[in-house]
Amino acid sequence: MTLGHQKRKPVVPLRITGTGAYLPQKVLTNADLASFLETSDEWIRTRTGILTRHVLSQGEVPAQMGVRAAERALTMAKKSPEDVDLLLVATNVPEEPIPGTAPHIALGLGLKKTPFFDVTAGCAGFIYALAMAGAMMRTGLSCTAIVVGTEALSRFINWQDRSTCVLFGDGAGAVLLERAEGNAGILGIALRGDPTKLGLLRIEAGGVRLPATVDTVQAGKHFLQMEGKGLFRAAVGMMAEATRAAAAQARIALSEIDWVIPHQANLRIIEALVKRLRIPAEKVVVNIDRVANTSTASIPIALDELVRAAKVERGQILALTAFGAGACYGTVILRW
Ligand code: UT7
Repeated sequence: MTLGHQKRKPVVPLRITGTGAYLPQKVLTNADLASFLETSDEWIRTRTGILTRHVLSQGEVPAQMGVRAAERALTMAKKSPEDVDLLLVATNVPEEPIPGTAPHIALGLGLKKTPFFDVTAGCAGFIYALAMAGAMMRTGLSCTAIVVGTEALSRFINWQDRSTCVLFGDGAGAVLLERAEGNAGILGIALRGDPTKLGLLRIEAGGVRLPATVDTVQAGKHFLQMEGKGLFRAAVGMMAEATRAAAAQARIALSEIDWVIPHQANLRIIEALVKRLRIPAEKVVVNIDRVANTSTASIPIALDELVRAAKVERGQILALTAFGAGACYGTVILRW
């Protein structure tokens, strides 16, 4: 094993001292979907790798999930909300258009004067928010930050559209970041955007461009629309390029990465990505079979599972990579 990277100082020295996740109780299996849609367990499993997904029940909201995930991260880190001086919330669909989701999570956590804001960067939102928190910690604006990804796309899906509704699940994940001396921290960041691909994944109506009217609702324009094939084709190249760039900044070889935590959009995308990067399958964290695509929550949920299974060791290198609407994509490489 090469350990040359151990000598290199991180660009942002920090430690992830807590992780947490929350998944709604209600579970939908592929067979459940096949009971009201023209689809099958076989199609969903072989095309996506998904077997089940969690969805919010009526009355539940994404901020509650975010609060639970953040509380679990705080408990793991043995910290209390008073210790937190920054809250960033990655999400695509806000709790309400104004003031978004972050203030609801801050309220639920009992934060008082802590700055908070939402980060919207498609399914790459958590990667962007992590990078932003790192940058704010580096400049001294924050010492202890919570970064949350929470998503409830089930509320924006047309449950009659088999090409989208089988893919997504709800959930939240969170990390607690603390400034730290030493070798742990962010080694490399590559954030990217390709606005020529903004049409590949969108909710057209409900914003300023196309405000909600009876017509927009009747035309189904408040539902998520996706060009799955176009996204699939772009995804592998985008994440591979960002991962190579982040590794170059970190001055590590891809073979030095111990764990890849990719956005869980499609098992075939993940397999193609790691094949292209020549990273062995046993280094790749996959939970799409159980949770489906939870968008901004997918990486922190998978990270939390890895941490709670006691699989990550101090000094190991993790690559977190995602792509999504925008198209925003990126990779953060960190030393645990
Ligand atoms: O977080 C990022 C957002 N999302 C993504 O990254 C998604 C990326 N794209 C994908 O994962 C894949 O493109 C999909 C899973 C969405 C689709 O897989 P595909 O292999 O690209 O299938 P397709 O869209 O080419 O559809 C193949 C066939 C079509 O039928 P015809 O036209 O060949 O007769 C679809 O109508 O499969 C049909 N189909 C389905 N059949 C059964 C589409 N969805 C379903 C379904 N069940 N749920």
